Amino acid sequence: MIEILNASKTYHQGEQEVCALRDVSFTIEKGEFLSIMGPSGSGKSTLLNLIGGLDQPSRGEIFIDGSPLHGITDDDLTLIRRRKVGFIFQFFNLLPILTAVENVSLPLLLDGVPFSRIREKAVHLLESVGLGSRIEHRPEQLSGGEMQRVAIARALVTDPAVLLADEPTGNLDSHRSEEILRLLKQLNRSGPTIIMVTHDSGAASFGTRIIKLRDGSLSEDIAIGGSPA
Ligand SMILES: Nc1ncnc2c1ncn2[C@@H]1O[C@H](COP(=O)(O)OP(=O)(O)OP(=O)(O)O)[C@@H](O)[C@H]1O
Ligand SMILES: [Mg+2]
Repeated sequence: MIEILNASKTYHQGEQEVCALRDVSFTIEKGEFLSIMGPSGSGKSTLLNLIGGLDQPSRGEIFIDGSPLHGITDDDLTLIRRRKVGFIFQFFNLLPILTAVENVSLPLLLDGVPFSRIREKAVHLLESVGLGSRIEHRPEQLSGGEMQRVAIARALVTDPAVLLADEPTGNLDSHRSEEILRLLKQLNRSGPTIIMVTHDSGAASFGTRIIKLRDGSLSEDIAIGGSPA
């Protein structure tokens, strides 16, 4: 479903070149829950951003569902990103002035769909992540774990084929982290392929496969047997 072929990413900063990703190749099948681990600066976020079409590789090729993410216009990249990919982040990135249901609706509102047609779906998604009683709350009125649930519902509102998560539990205590990981696992069983960056080997073991990066290169690729329920 996702093919990464000899992808490299070099950042230029004035005279300096930073090689964030070096010649990385692997394939992700539909329905996988892939954890990406590696030291700080090893290229995890860079790889996730390439898969999500937030950025393009300097060299190499990336395909989602057969569509190339390299060598296309920014407009085409934006369309693929909107239709196929959902993102969740460590710091939730919710808009503070919007309620939970408005935050969840936002990606479709930006696509021009009227709120009256989205609201029911947004409410249903909030119920499915256990927030049926928090629909009109604003982020400041929610706990960290609840904010991440709103962010997960928002990521799902476009029915993405892939959910990308960069340290989704990095800002949560161990109890809330486990709740979020269980939720992701449950969503993955019936829904999107999940790719999650994490520093935490306990969190990584919720996946079906772990890849490790070191200095921008793929250093390990491990399939997990009986992963946590
Ligand atoms: N926009 C950028 N411009 C220049 N260099 C960058 C840019 N983004 C990342 N880098 C560099 O690329 C390398 C990989 O960065 P990346 O953010 O992918 O690491 P990471 O594995 O996600 O680290 P962390 O665990 O700290 O989040 C780092 O050396 C970083 O400094
Ligand atoms: Mg990172």
